[in-house]
Amino acid sequence: MTRYHPLLVALHWILALMVIVGLVMGGRVLAQTANTDPAKLFSLRMHMSLGMVIGVLTLIRLGTRLFTTKPPHADIGNATLNKLGQAAHWGLYALVFGMVASGIGISLMAGLPDIVFGGSGAPLPADFSAFPPRAAHGLLATLLGLTILGHVGAALYHQFVRRDGLLSRMWFDKRSGGGNA
Ligand code: HEM
Ligand code: HEM
Repeated sequence: MTRYHPLLVALHWILALMVIVGLVMGGRVLAQTANTDPAKLFSLRMHMSLGMVIGVLTLIRLGTRLFTTKPPHADIGNATLNKLGQAAHWGLYALVFGMVASGIGISLMAGLPDIVFGGSGAPLPADFSAFPPRAAHGLLATLLGLTILGHVGAALYHQFVRRDGLLSRMWFDKRSGGGNA
């Protein structure tokens, strides 16, 4: 077993892109647009749809991860760092689910399903800070961003400093045209 299951590989890279887009657009565009701006509804529609698709795909990925065999966790000869790597992988799942749950929390408390998707025409609340899940969503976004930076840093360290070919474990087997080695 030298690689992750091809479905896990595909979902890893699709989700990596979607989560990074969600974080950047959420922080740089959505949260910077006033709730009175007519562009806010479009931005919310995009962000909430992306977030829900991320939630569903992450559930599928977690299921695939639990029911397929995977290569043993990389050993870099330091028990603490090995444990940190393992914790970071589970932490990424937990943080993504935390983002989706707190996002749904803001949405339900602020009546967003009707306003954003139901075309009720009702105005948005002045801002979302009155809803407790909004603070959690912002805090979790920071933690997720930092964990991803650590994760990418670790992947680059493996690939270019240790040169242990770790990235190929998260890629398809070239010889069998996408099969699992
Ligand atoms: C774009 C930058 C990224 C790179 C270069 C990268 C690279 C990798 C590599 C090489 C592995 C395999 C580690 C191993 O063999 O033990 C891995 C695993 C993993 N990555 Fe990433 N990753 C990136 C982004 C992300 C993002 C944004 C997330 C989630 C938010 C994520 C979540 C995970 C998880 C949970 C695992 C463990 C395998 C699993 O359980 O699915 N990665 N990543
Ligand atoms: C992994 C999925 C998600 C990511 C990465 C993400 C990311 C973000 C980020 C970075 C912000 C800005 C935080 C800040 O600047 O304090 C934000 C705000 C927000 N997100 Fe998400 N989000 C996700 C899922 C969701 C979901 C599923 C919903 C709703 C169904 C949602 C609804 C919102 C709302 C209502 C705001 C507040 C915007 C404002 O204050 O104007 N998010 N999100």
